[in-house]
Amino acid sequence: MIAPVGVAVVGCGFASDFYLATLAAHPGIRVTALYDRIAERAERAAERFGVPVAENLSALVDREDTLLVVNLTNPAGHAEVTEAALSAGRHVYSEKPLTLDLAAANRLVKLADSQRLVLACAPANVLGESIQTLWREIRSGAIGAPRLVYAELDDGAVHAMRYREWLNDTGVPWPYRDEFEMGCVLEHAGYQLQPLTSMFGPIRRVAAEATTVMPDKFPPDESGPLGPDFATATLTFETGVVARLTCSTVAPKDHSLTVIGDGGVLRLADCWDFGSPITARIVGDWEHSYLTRPTPVEPVRSYTPHEFEYADHRMDFARGVAEAVEAAVTGRPCRLGAAQALHVLEATLAISRGESIDITSEFTPPEPEDWAR
Ligand SMILES: NC(=O)c1ccc[n+]([C@@H]2O[C@H](COP(=O)([O-])OP(=O)(O)OC[C@H]3O[C@@H](n4cnc5c(N)ncnc54)[C@H](O)[C@@H]3O)[C@@H](O)[C@H]2O)c1
Repeated sequence: MIAPVGVAVVGCGFASDFYLATLAAHPGIRVTALYDRIAERAERAAERFGVPVAENLSALVDREDTLLVVNLTNPAGHAEVTEAALSAGRHVYSEKPLTLDLAAANRLVKLADSQRLVLACAPANVLGESIQTLWREIRSGAIGAPRLVYAELDDGAVHAMRYREWLNDTGVPWPYRDEFEMGCVLEHAGYQLQPLTSMFGPIRRVAAEATTVMPDKFPPDESGPLGPDFATATLTFETGVVARLTCSTVAPKDHSLTVIGDGGVLRLADCWDFGSPITARIVGDWEHSYLTRPTPVEPVRSYTPHEFEYADHRMDFARGVAEAVEAAVTGRPCRLGAAQALHVLEATLAISRGESIDITSEFTPPEPEDWAR
């Protein structure tokens, strides 16, 4: 039997539970060490998941038993931690966004390339059964040529919820100050942009508006910087496909993805659900309508959620890590690769700033999963 591949985790905050709980279901991977600059967090996670704590970041990235480092730090820490891991010769899987600026992202992509290391970036929802099914339907011509996409990432009015009470299962609070400062686009647009660029290739133009429509998010005794809580963008892909992306933490939850082709319409209900229902409507010729009723699309394979998955996002977070590990071990291209992450970042930054710009970065779109061809 082949020994499990060692991965180490930096950042034991709110999101680390999603990884540490689901990594256990990937027998080919073993967590070798944890580190957080808040020692208590690393210790609590270590106790819960039975993994040693590294003394500091360099001790973690220097471990010989570790092939890949999973970077689950706050967005502002992504560049520094990823650079430390790549410089120590470790492959990296980073939470999104890859970095907070394009110069740092470019530097990291070059560093990874020069060292022949995998630099992979979340989100991994494109690897889920539901988006792979949607992609297969599009490739099979079920709706003819895709023309227009409506991609929603509304996450509900967070400021109206009791967010100060949210704790993960290890007891870490939801980092609302960081989330409010980053804004809805840097935090969430990737869940639509990553799958869209996988399916339709490079974006060539972004025309965006972004604003803060709810400035009173903090509790009465607090204040702080606020990123946008609403953004909308029209994306023009090189292929001619046009997409309208809406992102907010104001409007009620809607994570749907609708692809309109010249022969019909596919609608995925929730891009945060690997088992999301998908429906198809086909163009017909009737007196008062032109589309059939929505009919369920048979998934390419069924998805069984892990015991520890959270009801509002049924995603196997560790699947992204497993993809990066397999790419590192076999030398094949990673489906969550660095050049695409840089491209997604270029579009994300433009949308978050409400800019209208041409997008210039290049990448080779990934292959679908072998089981979904
Ligand atoms: N909060 C969520 O629901 C959620 C879900 C999915 C993905 N994410 C993403 O996961 C990442 C982490 O988010 P989070 O919610 O866990 O934030 P968090 O603030 O709860 O945790 C981040 C942890 O990283 C540690 N850290 C930061 N810089 C460090 C450094 N240089 N060295 C060591 N430790 C460092 C912090 O001390 C903190 O404990 C972000 O990129 C976020 O976008 C968050």
